[in-house]
Amino acid sequence: MLVSAKDMLEKAKAGKYAVGQFNINNLEWTKAILLTAEELRSPVILGVSEGAGKYMCGFKTVAAMVKAMIEELGITVPVALHLDHGSYDGAYKAMNAGFSSIMFDGSHYAIEENIEKTKQIIADASAKGISVEAEVGSIGGEEDGVVGAGEVADPDECKMIADLGVTMLAAGIGNIHGKYPANWAGLNFDVLAKIQEKTGTMPLVLHGGTGIPADMIKTAISLGVSKINVNTECQLAFQEATRKYIEAGKDLEGKGFDPRKLLAPGVEAIKATVKEKMELFGSIGKAE
Ligand code: 13P
Repeated sequence: MLVSAKDMLEKAKAGKYAVGQFNINNLEWTKAILLTAEELRSPVILGVSEGAGKYMCGFKTVAAMVKAMIEELGITVPVALHLDHGSYDGAYKAMNAGFSSIMFDGSHYAIEENIEKTKQIIADASAKGISVEAEVGSIGGEEDGVVGAGEVADPDECKMIADLGVTMLAAGIGNIHGKYPANWAGLNFDVLAKIQEKTGTMPLVLHGGTGIPADMIKTAISLGVSKINVNTECQLAFQEATRKYIEAGKDLEGKGFDPRKLLAPGVEAIKATVKEKMELFGSIGKAE
């Protein structure tokens, strides 16, 4: 069922596990993630960036697809449809289109403006029962053309934003979108511990989940992270499986050109990636 991310994340924070946000790009992605969550009885968050929303013909198309798919596939685990790194206008468009959760990324504004805009969004979203993620200290790297410098969040600013009543907070702690470079310094756990100290029971969000080593993920969860975003890793898994299929000449055998066959190995690879992450995050069996 389509729900806000509030309950599932509060439960995750209290139970010391994290719910995965997996970004979607099309019908195959969405189906693969929903079926895996259902099979493993895990709550799940479907992330949609503004770029992916445009690609899928707009937020209304996405919301209609996700709602229909939940019904027709008989998905009974909690599913949140979440706008990823939304702009101010994008957040309103997603809310009006039927998203159950939104992120307003005001991290590129001065903190005062970030606070003002986040406050307004929280007021309007809460009236509709929609959960809100805010961000302090940008996430490094590039995602769908949005480039973040990767600054580490100031714990006092995190508290200011948390006090506005956001559902969950993304705080930069040295994490980046995409693949991590070989010389990456790792996550800044000192800052994460301070943020958790200041923000208490509020669920924290870790972006850039692709390629973070398992031990760092576990430490982050122990320090209050209850939502972890994964995007690039599903893309890489899909790409590798599709490449293998074509390089093995399978598309040239019989009806191997049929899109349902051509895309199947990639879909299976996404399912395997999502399963691996749900195991690592500890969300399996937490749907009830
Ligand atoms: P990755 O692409 O690095 O997994 O990051 C995903 C993300 O943080 C989406 O907001």
